[in-house]
Amino acid sequence: MKYSDFGQRFKAGSGIVELMDDLGTALNENPDLIFMGGGNPGQIPEVEAFFQKELIKHAENPEWLHSCLGVYQSPQGEKSFRESLAKLLKDTQGWDIGPENIMITNGSQAAFFMLFNMLAGKTTTESGTEDRHILLPLVPEYIGYTDTGVEQNLFKSSRPAIHQLSDHRFKYQVDFESLEITEQTAAICVSRPTNPTGNMITDEELVQLNRLALDHDIPLIIDGAYGLPFPNLVFGKGQPFWNNNTILALSLSKLGLPGVRTGILVGPEDIISSMTHANTVTSLACGNIGPFLVRDAIADGKLLGLCNQFIKPFYQTKMQEALDCIDEELADLPYQVHEPEGAIFLWLWFPNLPITSEELYQRLKAKGMLVVAGHHFFPGMEEEWGHKQECIRVSYAQPFDKVEAGVKLLAQEVRKAYEEA
Ligand SMILES: Cc1ncc(COP(=O)(O)O)c(C=O)c1O
Repeated sequence: MKYSDFGQRFKAGSGIVELMDDLGTALNENPDLIFMGGGNPGQIPEVEAFFQKELIKHAENPEWLHSCLGVYQSPQGEKSFRESLAKLLKDTQGWDIGPENIMITNGSQAAFFMLFNMLAGKTTTESGTEDRHILLPLVPEYIGYTDTGVEQNLFKSSRPAIHQLSDHRFKYQVDFESLEITEQTAAICVSRPTNPTGNMITDEELVQLNRLALDHDIPLIIDGAYGLPFPNLVFGKGQPFWNNNTILALSLSKLGLPGVRTGILVGPEDIISSMTHANTVTSLACGNIGPFLVRDAIADGKLLGLCNQFIKPFYQTKMQEALDCIDEELADLPYQVHEPEGAIFLWLWFPNLPITSEELYQRLKAKGMLVVAGHHFFPGMEEEWGHKQECIRVSYAQPFDKVEAGVKLLAQEVRKAYEEA
C-alpha cells in the first residue's frame, strides 16, 4: 500500500499511539498490569451514580431520546447546551461570552488537531509562503500535541527554568528570556494544569503570555482539560482566564466521561465559526450524548458542585497518598517530584539517571508496570538536553494498592539503574 506524506505520519506510529495501545491492553486485556501510564480518569462512585441517574431519567423521555440519538445537531453543537454553558461562564467568571463563542468537538484532541493545523503550517502571505508554528512556552507539555501537525515541525519550544522548591520538589517556570516569538509564530499554547507535570502556570505567567500574544496579534490557547472552571483538578493557586484573544479548550473526559468524547472550545467568534466549518467537513456533526447528559447539571450548577465535592477531593487525596508513598520508597535515591499543583499525574525526575527514560519504561513494562517515558513530552524542542531522558510520568488514578505496588517496583528498578552505573 502506498501512503501519502500525510498517511506516512500515521503509519509510523507515535508516543500517543504507544500510550493509547498500552492503555487499551492494560484496561481491557491484561487488567493485572500495574497501570500508571495513560490519562484515564479514576472511577468515582458518587460521580458515576450521578451520571447513571441522569441517563436513566432522560432515556425515559422520548423527546430527549429522539433529539439526542435521532437528530444531527448543528456542527457547532446543540444550542441550548451552548447557551447554558455561556450563562455559567458569564455568571461565575464574568466573561463576556454568548453561545456564538462556544463550539463542541468530538473530544478536545480532535479540536487541537483542527485548531493547530488551521493556524500553523504552510501559509500564503503577500510576500510568498511561510511555515508558521505553535509556540509551547513551557515544556514538558502534553504528549498528544506532538503528532497533530499535518506538516512536520508544527511546534517550537525551549527549555524551561527549573525552580528548586525543597530537597525533593521542584517547579518548571516559563523562561521569558529565552522565549522566541517571531513573525511565524501563529499562536501560544499551554495546558493548565499541565499534563504531564501537574504544573499550574501562575496567574502572573499567564498575564505575561497574554500580553505577548496581544502584542503579536496571535491567540493564546489554554488547554483546560484538567482545569478551570471544570473539572477543576487544581490543587495549587490559579484563577480561570479568558478574554477575546483566548481560545479555551475544555473537555468532559476528566469529569469521568472520556467515553462520550466531548470537547468544548470557548473562543473569539471568528475562530469558532472557522472551526465549526472544519468540524462540519471532518465530522458532519458532533456526538450529542455528552452535551445532552450534562446540559441540566451545567444549567443548575450541579456540575461545578460535583467537581468541588467529589472529583477534586478524590484526586487530591490520591495524589497525597502517592506522594507520601514515593517519599518513603525512594528516600535513598536522588529523586525529584514536580510540585503537584493539579491534573492526575506525578512527574518524577531522576537527575543523572544512567539509563534513558525509554529504557526505564521498558524495564518496568517487563515487570508488569506501565508508566510513560518522559522524552515524549518535549514537542518542538530539538535541542539535546539530558533532562528529557531523566523523567517519567506516573498516574495515580488507580486504586492505592496498585499505586503502592507500582512505586515499590519503580524504586527497585531505579535503584538498580543507579547501582549498575
Ligand atoms: C492536556 C490534555 N489535553 C487534551 C486531552 C484530550 O482529551 P479529550 O480528547 O478526551 O477531550 C488530554 C487527554 O488526556 C489531555 O491530557
